[in-house]
Amino acid sequence: MKVMVVGGGGREHAIIKKIKENSKVTEVFCLPGNGGIAADATCVPIDAKDLDGITKFAVENGIEYAIVAPDDPLVLGCVDRLEKAGIPCFGPYKKAAVIEGSKAFSKNLMKKYKIPTAAFEVFHDMEEAFEYLEKAPLPTVVKADGLALGKGVIIANTLEEAKQAVKSMMEDKVFGSSGDYIVIEEFLEGPEVTVLSFTDGKVVVPMISSMDHKRAHDNDEGLNTGGMGTIAPNPYYTEEIADYCMEKIFLPTINAMNAEGRTFKGCLYFGLMLTENGPKVIEYNCRFGDPETQVVLPLLESDLFDIMQAVTEGRLSECEVKFSDKSCACVVAASDGYPTAYEKGFPLTVAPEVADSTYIAGAAIKDGVLVTNGGRVLGVTAVADTLKEAVDEAYKKMDKVHFDNMYYRKDIGARALKALEA
Ligand code: AMP
Ligand code: GLY
Repeated sequence: MKVMVVGGGGREHAIIKKIKENSKVTEVFCLPGNGGIAADATCVPIDAKDLDGITKFAVENGIEYAIVAPDDPLVLGCVDRLEKAGIPCFGPYKKAAVIEGSKAFSKNLMKKYKIPTAAFEVFHDMEEAFEYLEKAPLPTVVKADGLALGKGVIIANTLEEAKQAVKSMMEDKVFGSSGDYIVIEEFLEGPEVTVLSFTDGKVVVPMISSMDHKRAHDNDEGLNTGGMGTIAPNPYYTEEIADYCMEKIFLPTINAMNAEGRTFKGCLYFGLMLTENGPKVIEYNCRFGDPETQVVLPLLESDLFDIMQAVTEGRLSECEVKFSDKSCACVVAASDGYPTAYEKGFPLTVAPEVADSTYIAGAAIKDGVLVTNGGRVLGVTAVADTLKEAVDEAYKKMDKVHFDNMYYRKDIGARALKALEA
């Protein structure tokens, strides 16, 4: 089968490597992909938001199945467009992708269906938001309603900071129309867990849990990034918590989306915080997480492509979704300066013995040479019997990867390992 993957980061690289394990998959195209993904798929320079270009390419090239991975094309309705053109897809329709595309939508959904989440209010008027903040407890959390490249969340410790956050989103429009509406919510504390799940709208099958490391520097210092590393499974996510989440969060969410006429098919991402008062939803994403995917898929023992097709065809209940009982760690190497200003264009070398377990996020081929081309450049993963071994192994592999101005966190998994010792 000719398969097309929309997107071009480490997550897409991990998905491509995994679906190629299925012998039905004979040809893989990645739009736009990147210079590193080019080793595993035919990359086509069409932007992931160019729905006309993507649909035209798919039709003209006889694509038989499409996987739409990033938030932007999903929220814009890429799956709707491709399916209208007769191409079966993995990913939610536009009306279901709104669960990530609008925080006001997802918060109201949780309120209506009593799904545990931080207390909140939605605002469209800046003065009303200011008035509310006068009485709100600190710290408080200000979120832009729409997509904001993972930067639309500000945790404000003072009233001034909170007001500034509101103003930057609603008046200065730093996130464009994503700040037309804002959510102000209660600050929660506790370990964070990501649970990706497969769902066809009838059943929901959670994948192995994981933990992201969002801050740029060790000890969770520095700015928020797209993710500097991940581990799986997440030791805080016990079986008891998993059962609670299935009953109080996962199933109610699927049922709520059905009740709203917005059946969700694809990968639904649950970002959870394990608070003193139980697990609460911090965010939903309508897609695989990045870099969570890079630690979850290497532990998947069942066939990813078969599962994806079953999701598309509404027969997920017939599928086996089995995970290994090993652990996986992914360490992300970024360009120095990320997530703000950084240089790119440096030659990138990945030793052949670690290429299979390296997922390239930001690279290009220039004059026949692989060079860095993004903030996050790549993720190196390792699977082992224990988390400690997986982390050690991932760092060892990092020594086999080189580019100038490279930086990576040295403490990926440290907090999880401490939790395991406790
Ligand atoms: P989000 O983009 O919604 O995932 O938020 C980014 C990060 O901000 C999360 O991973 C949390 O670490 C933090 N965050 C979001 N909402 C809250 C909240 N209500 N309380 C505390 N931290 C939060
Ligand atoms: N790693 C966080 C995300 O994919 O949104």
